[in-house]
Amino acid sequence: MCGIVGYIGQQDSKEILLRGLEKLEYRGYDSAGIAVLNEDGVHVFKEKGRIADLRQTVDLNVQAPLGIGHTRWATHGVPSRTNAHPHQSASGRFTLVHNGVIENYALLQRDHLQNVQFQSETDTEVVVQLVEKFVNDGFEAEEAFRKTLTLLKGSYAIALVDAEDPEVIYVAKNKSPLLVGLGDGFNVVASDAMAMLQVTNQYVELMDQEMVIVKRNAITIKKLDGQEVARSPYTAQLDASDIEKGTYPHYMLKEIDEQPFVMRRIIQKYQDASGALTIDKDIVNAVLEADRLYIIACGTSYHAGLVGKQLLEKWANIPVEVHIASEFSYNMPLLSKKPLFIYISQSGETADSRAVLVQTKKLGYKALTITNVPGSTLSREADYTLLLHAGPEIAVASTKAYTAQIAVLAILATVAAKAKGIALDFSLVKELGIIANVMEMLCDAKEEMEQIAREYLETTRNCFFIGRASDFYVGLEGALKLKEISYIQAEGFAGGELKHGTIALIEEGTPVVALATQEHVNLSIRGNVKEVVARGANPCIISMRGLETDEDRYVIPAVHPMLTPLVAVVPLQLIAYYAALHRGCDVDKPRNLAKSVTVE
Ligand code: F6R
Repeated sequence: MCGIVGYIGQQDSKEILLRGLEKLEYRGYDSAGIAVLNEDGVHVFKEKGRIADLRQTVDLNVQAPLGIGHTRWATHGVPSRTNAHPHQSASGRFTLVHNGVIENYALLQRDHLQNVQFQSETDTEVVVQLVEKFVNDGFEAEEAFRKTLTLLKGSYAIALVDAEDPEVIYVAKNKSPLLVGLGDGFNVVASDAMAMLQVTNQYVELMDQEMVIVKRNAITIKKLDGQEVARSPYTAQLDASDIEKGTYPHYMLKEIDEQPFVMRRIIQKYQDASGALTIDKDIVNAVLEADRLYIIACGTSYHAGLVGKQLLEKWANIPVEVHIASEFSYNMPLLSKKPLFIYISQSGETADSRAVLVQTKKLGYKALTITNVPGSTLSREADYTLLLHAGPEIAVASTKAYTAQIAVLAILATVAAKAKGIALDFSLVKELGIIANVMEMLCDAKEEMEQIAREYLETTRNCFFIGRASDFYVGLEGALKLKEISYIQAEGFAGGELKHGTIALIEEGTPVVALATQEHVNLSIRGNVKEVVARGANPCIISMRGLETDEDRYVIPAVHPMLTPLVAVVPLQLIAYYAALHRGCDVDKPRNLAKSVTVE
């Protein structure tokens, strides 16, 4: 979590840094700060809250062509002005921003910095104090920085400035993402290319345990032993309009509306010249060689994995297990003889998933990452990657990445089935085309969804989602969407489990959203609705055309029965959006969360 930026060039750096941080707010937004360096020295501005709050504190009269900035998601130390980055060394000579977690900070403090008075409660401060200590011991700044880096355990993306050298920003990376952007007469640093797309689309990727000396007209990449590394830049394939809200009030609404387009783009990206769906041969072989697939993911991506399991098992006849990444590392099941690990991650940076990837790679198992971000850590470190092609997802609550993940898993399932000689009696290209059209209709039903949100959720303290088969998995996702952005306590339950305990929670007026898109369990889920209604619940049944009854609140046009999650989730996303909106919540940046969860 947290995002960092840096700029060294000819222009005043403040606005470039602030605009960059605004683009990185998805990585954390509980406090923020910038430090700029000019002939008068270092000027630090920081504030608890959003970048908008930070803006109020920045002195516009200070002009400086070099600066670094940070937006924070607190790990060590409460969100406060004191704990906000940048942090400074005791004398004020060094100033630093950091994304990641320094796991051995307490030991380093004890062993090297006993006489230093720390200002903050953060793990980060130890880094800047160590640099100063080593300079006081006689090292040059660059050497002191490198020596410090060799002592750090954990993850970091760091930018450091030295008040005595206005010609350089030192940066370093280990496990946390970091890019150096190249310009004409300036260079920049950012956690993500989106932040600095305002000034350049030329980036150099950094590897773990590398540092970079960033000057106005040159960058030098070094390993921690001082050995130089040559690396060419690449052009970031991002369109500035992809990361703007346009006329939408929120990114989340824009991203919900983009889903039909994303479905069509995925079909196109995975079609060969003859129009048939295709996936890289090596990936298909790896899937076919495996005796079991292990899907590892977190949150919404985990929910997509649950749907993917059904598709892969039913269509390609391959056994699949789905695991929550944070549990898997210490709770590993007995593995099959030839497993293939599939990591599903929108960001490709989720630390819990990466921890499992590192573990399974050590065991010698192959890995496939399904991600929205080419070049992300999980993509780089896996053997194979399948891209989601969903375009940048900026709202913290994931929407289009979830449906893209299911669509890509569906393609993988059908391609694997075909390679195994299993004949499927439908065309996925056609079915996904229908899905895209139905998604469009659902996105047009915003007024209806807003009405449902008003009716059921305006004042409630809780809400339950029930479903059977794949509707259960969609219910889990609907509940996650609602709770994370509206703070209504929402839970998804398997319809059949209600009577085993959960039904005790039902009170007079409790909203229960029931999904009924699956013919083989239609009667059973409707029976569950009767049970909760008998105990006072206020039911909202969302069903599929052909299975509907008079009591249903909304009927989704019919799609392939195995693909209903792709459409059933859209009303739930919209209902969550409007519930959050009407309750005055910050839809795109819900409290306590960050988009990219880069700490375990
Ligand atoms: C919820 C949400 C999260 C993410 C989870 C995994 O809306 O976005 O639950 O799905 O943090 O993130 P990725 O997919 O980036 O690994």
